[in-house]
Amino acid sequence: MAILKVTRLGHPVLRKVTETISVKELKTASMQRFIDDMVETMKEYDGVGLAADQVFTSKQIAVLEVADNPRYPNKGKVPLTVLVNPKIEPLSDDMEEDWEGCLSIPDLRGSVPRYKRIHVSALDRDGNKLDFIAKDFHARVIQHEYDHLNGKVYLDRMGDFSTLTFLQEFGRYWLNK
Ligand code: NI
Repeated sequence: MAILKVTRLGHPVLRKVTETISVKELKTASMQRFIDDMVETMKEYDGVGLAADQVFTSKQIAVLEVADNPRYPNKGKVPLTVLVNPKIEPLSDDMEEDWEGCLSIPDLRGSVPRYKRIHVSALDRDGNKLDFIAKDFHARVIQHEYDHLNGKVYLDRMGDFSTLTFLQEFGRYWLNK
């Protein structure tokens, strides 16, 4: 396995809509190795999610996991999940503001409105159908990664930039406020 280089905001690949993957392509050894590398890269940088275009690959794959993450403490746990060709649908208009960061936008945090409950359909890494409901932080992480796969970043979803803050100032002025 390998730790991959992460794209930073400004690289055009982050603004492209990624391509869907066929089950045949998904099952190749090279694609399976790539998914292992995505998981290792996400863990190395303490991410709670990573989209393939963040590692220079414009394909519809995202990985996510929330488990005692130092960048996002006190969040409900989400098991390691691989989403291939995901589709999401909000289950209501209810939205919630909470903090997000992004490995492609280092050192910044901002408060972003997201749907509280979503229906998710996708394939897993073996090509099996996934169909589930995600809520709260889990739903937030999936919406963030889904946006990446569609050429969007969390800054695009902020109503305004008044909460945008560097991490150091986040700890000093915003945390627990
Ligand atoms: Ni991100």
